[in-house]
Amino acid sequence: MAQAKRSNEDESLVGEYTLPDVLKCGDGTVVTTASEWTGKRRAEVLRLYEEHVYGKTPETPKLDATVTSERKDALGGLATRRIVRLSMKGQPKWEGIDVMIYIPNAAKKPVPSFIGLSFGGNHAVSPDIDVPISDRWMRPAQGDTVRNNRATVRSRGKEAHRWPLEMILERGFAVVTAYYGDIEPDHTQGWKDGVRGVLAEKGADTVWKDGEWGAIGAWAWGLSRMLDYVETVDSIDAKHCSVIGHSRLGKTSLCAGAQDQRFAMVISNCSGEGGAAIMRRNFGETTKIITTSFPHWFTPTYARYSDHAADCPVDQHMLISLMAPRPVCIASAAEDLWADPKGEFLSGLNAQPVYDLFGLKGVGVKHQPMVNTPVGDVVRYHVRTGIHDVTDFDWQRYMD
Ligand code: GCU
Repeated sequence: MAQAKRSNEDESLVGEYTLPDVLKCGDGTVVTTASEWTGKRRAEVLRLYEEHVYGKTPETPKLDATVTSERKDALGGLATRRIVRLSMKGQPKWEGIDVMIYIPNAAKKPVPSFIGLSFGGNHAVSPDIDVPISDRWMRPAQGDTVRNNRATVRSRGKEAHRWPLEMILERGFAVVTAYYGDIEPDHTQGWKDGVRGVLAEKGADTVWKDGEWGAIGAWAWGLSRMLDYVETVDSIDAKHCSVIGHSRLGKTSLCAGAQDQRFAMVISNCSGEGGAAIMRRNFGETTKIITTSFPHWFTPTYARYSDHAADCPVDQHMLISLMAPRPVCIASAAEDLWADPKGEFLSGLNAQPVYDLFGLKGVGVKHQPMVNTPVGDVVRYHVRTGIHDVTDFDWQRYMD
């Protein structure tokens, strides 16, 4: 991705760095068993992520669910499509999340599912022309798909290539998705119209404090609320829900998987800086660049590690470790240097000490594999040819 800001894309200039020891507790002891990890260190690492990276997700009231439409013959009869609005009692200012669910009609028993947010809204994901066009705030986009921060009719299906619904449904999975901007619009002041603002009841001059949640935390919270709803749907097996996300939404799916262990598998597609990429590696996007361009994504503390990554008590192998013993898939694209494909691999590799505690094999190789050569067992990694995107190749890996 072309970026105006300077970043290093020369492997020989990366330099030396030392990763924090994921097994070493705050009191200096070193975890040696799975139960010590689960009972002690895991909570510590999660807290470090709250304090230093994504902020703390507050407890929230249960959301109300209202089915707004259902079609049993969606996608030419392949699936049943339901749209459900999740909203918060007593908070009319926040319109809620419109969750779109496709369930394969051929299923004889509850199906596993993929839960993920989209960049463009349900109508952009689906080829069905009766899916309502989102009327929420949207980031400006190329072409004529967004005008005055609102989706136009031209945005129908524009994200469908990233959501190969037919392929996924034919393989027997349900798809559960929503527009990330339903939870919070993605701009620095977006919190005012999103769930963070509504819950905090903060004024317009609010400055978010260290340790308070940022937009990624809010979007991740939304994914958990979608899973709450899925738990009430008989035809979906809520114990086998994978959380998936691309790019900033890949950072979000990792954050969701870390905080909510009900997600059975966690998928990071090209998540890059603040996601799967090792922050101490000086390659591609940096902490400074990301916290300058997108300060609202993180807790304010995180920006202090701009040019001081070595001072941060976590690095992203610790985020991947929070998924253990669950499966995690990390995917990169060869041309997506901005996201640091090698750094994304290294976080998976360096999560191995925690997977070892559970006797589980992670990526299973010491070096980043060649393109289009997936590796790994419980921690899977692949780098495919091409650009920053989600492709059928990626989906095949996630469904296998
Ligand atoms: C920008 C940003 C990345 C992010 C990406 C995206 O490129 O710098 O960190 O992953 O947007 O979400 O598309």
